[in-house]
Amino acid sequence: MFKKLKIKLKNSVDPEKFKGDHISTYGFISYFNLKKSYMILPKEIFRLNPDRIVWSEVQPKANLPHRDHVLKTSLNIYIEPRNAVVRFYKVKQGGEPYSPDPKIFYPNLFYHKDLDLCDQFIAEPYDSYLLDVSNVHEVTGVENLNRTMIQLSWYSRSFDQVLNQIGEEYVY
Ligand SMILES: [Fe+2]
Repeated sequence: MFKKLKIKLKNSVDPEKFKGDHISTYGFISYFNLKKSYMILPKEIFRLNPDRIVWSEVQPKANLPHRDHVLKTSLNIYIEPRNAVVRFYKVKQGGEPYSPDPKIFYPNLFYHKDLDLCDQFIAEPYDSYLLDVSNVHEVTGVENLNRTMIQLSWYSRSFDQVLNQIGEEYVY
């Protein structure tokens, strides 16, 4: 569901320097280009061929249990994680997703009653985690400040495929 990684940034990150142009906003998550990524990301990361590398900012709202719409796997390097709790769940037998707005989205939200908690983590600044975002997850306990992270994502490669490529020496 998730793995903490030993991937370390080459430098500390001043958001002013690395946050680029706005790409898109979905609800309370905004994506920006990551400027000068080669200055901070170690070269092992580029070998993983992510489909997308962004600077991501999330407003301080609890994120209900959900599966991501298009992303399968995400490597998050948390810059300002704000003590948020990231939880991963298993869907109970018979549990079905529901839609926040049947006109726009296919169903991807879940009620807590249909879920069993599997595991959770609270990231420290500069921690990196590989996440299976095709699995049900949520973010809670957020402080009243935006969370920021560098996010590498894969649209079709599974968590296990990316994890295998990362190799054991980079996994806790
Ligand atoms: Fe998500």
